[in-house]
Parts: sequence; C-alpha cells; structure tokens
Amino acid sequence: MSESTIIVERSERVGVIRLNRPKAYNALSGILINELLDALRSFESDTNIGAIILTGNDKGFCAGADIKEQSELSFVNAYNQDYLKNLNDGFFAVHKPIIGVINGIALGGGCELAMMCDILYAAETATFGQPEITLGTIPGAGGTQRLIRAIGKSKAMHMILTGETISAKEAEAAGLVAKVLPLEEVFSAALKTASKIAGFSAPVVAMAKEAVNEAEELGLKNGLHFESRLYHATFGLEDHAEGFQAFLAKPKRTAQWK
Ligand code: HXC
Repeated sequence: MSESTIIVERSERVGVIRLNRPKAYNALSGILINELLDALRSFESDTNIGAIILTGNDKGFCAGADIKEQSELSFVNAYNQDYLKNLNDGFFAVHKPIIGVINGIALGGGCELAMMCDILYAAETATFGQPEITLGTIPGAGGTQRLIRAIGKSKAMHMILTGETISAKEAEAAGLVAKVLPLEEVFSAALKTASKIAGFSAPVVAMAKEAVNEAEELGLKNGLHFESRLYHATFGLEDHAEGFQAFLAKPKRTAQWK
C-alpha cells in the first residue's frame, strides 16, 4: 500500500492535518486531495473536535497542483475532473473553524488551499503566490475569486498577472494573514488559538463562522438580516443561557459550555 500523503493528529479538542508529500513540496495530487477531504469529514463529524489546523511539513505548506499529474491531462479529462469542485465543496461543508498554519511556500493551489481556511497564521519565512501564469494557465481553485476579496483588486491582479510572490509580512499588511510569527513559534501559537476557539460553545462557533462567511455571498442588507437571525437563534441554546448567567453571577464565574 502506498504511503499516506497527510498526517492526521489530535491535540485534545483540536484536529491537526499535516500535508506530507515532501518529495513534491506537498503538491496536491488527486490522492492527497481525497485523503485531505476524508480527514476533514472525519473531524467535522467528531463531536470531540472543536477546531481544525491545516499545515505543511518542513518543505513548507504546498506548491500547488501536482504539475506532473496535471501535465498528463487532456482538455477533456481536465474539464471532466471534479476534484477542484470537490476540494472547494469539502471545505464549504466544514462548520468547524479551520486555521491554516502556513509554514513556508504557499504557491498556486497551495495559496488557494490556504485561502479555503478561515484564519491564517504564517511563519516569517512563508511566501504566497499564484505562479500559474508562468505555466501558461490561471488559478483554478479560487485564486482569482478569493485573493481579490482578501487583498483587493490591484494587489490580486499584480500577483496573478506577474506570478510574483509576496512575503508573510506583506500578506499580513494586506489582510490575507491574521498573524506572522517566527517559524518555531507559529504552530504552537495557532494551536493555542485553536484550543481557545474549541473551548467555546460549538454551535455558537459554527454560527459565527457561517455568519462571517455569508458576508461574501450576500449584500449588506441581506447579510445583516441573516446575521440578526442567527444572533436570535443563539437565544435558543442552553449555552446562551449559561454564558449570560455566568457573566451576571456574583462573583462572575467561567461558563461551562454544553
Ligand atoms: C509536482 C513539484 C511541484 C508541483 C515542486 N515539485 N513543485 N512536483 N507539482 N507543484 C517537485 C519538483 O518537480 C522536484 O521533483 C521537487 O519537487 C523539488 O523541486 P525543485 O524545483 O527542484 O525545488 P526548489 O528549487 O527548491 O523549488 C521549490 C519550488 C518550485 C519553489 C516549490 O519547485 C516550484 O516553483 N514549484 C512549482 C510551483 C507552482 O508553479 N505551483 C503552481 C502549480 S499550478 P524532482 O522529482 O525533480 O525532484 C496550480 C494550479 C492550481 O497550482 C489549480 C488548482 C489546484
């Protein structure tokens, strides 16, 4: 049997997925994508898991689509391939927050995979890029759509039309990345954040994630309406009563989430 292309671990309520194809800079082969989607599905259905971390290995985060695999595809085979849709749909189906820890290069599909995550932590040495133009193609897993939302049109166009990379600091300044930390600290900082999020009420975390994601789909008026409906829905949760009572207790106490 061939070796697994990912490593799956758990740290209390945090599920960790490490991309692991070191010989190909963790390139997204069809097998890797299937294994990644299986791992996401398994953490999503596990009530003991409250947040997920996706990261790379010592080769970095991910060098994008597997160029060798893709080079063998005809137009018809590429067109009929479902794996880009499956990848996007697989991430859309996860209600739990996914923190991407970008520990090195995130190129092409690797940058797109990073942008499928909900929060990004980057190592100081990380670089982000959409070099598809240098291969005679364009981003195919959300680069043209998500990058513009993350960093604006001019910077997104610049990256996509030149193929040039940006540094972690530039990514942070542009809003693509939440935090930049030294390589040796970035995973443990992300784990701490993931554990904190996983310690809150699971349904409330899921509703917060859904409401934020809907901002990209809905206009402001509909988005505000959607948010207020989810806000009202939290009033039906035992966790809502617990959170409010814990705050109002004298002395104030720590809420015990169900
Ligand atoms: C398959 C890859 C690969 C990739 C690297 N390798 N990237 N194999 N797919 N995306 C392989 C190389 O072929 C080589 O294999 C080994 O990894 C080491 O690569 P080198 O180039 O020798 O290493 P280095 O000089 O350190 O440069 C590393 C690198 C560079 C900066 C990551 O390899 C690179 O630029 N890779 C391509 C990045 C890219 O263009 N990504 C976009 C892909 S298109 P051998 O067997 O020779 O040792 C895309 C479209 C998205 O992502 C569509 C949706 C998913």
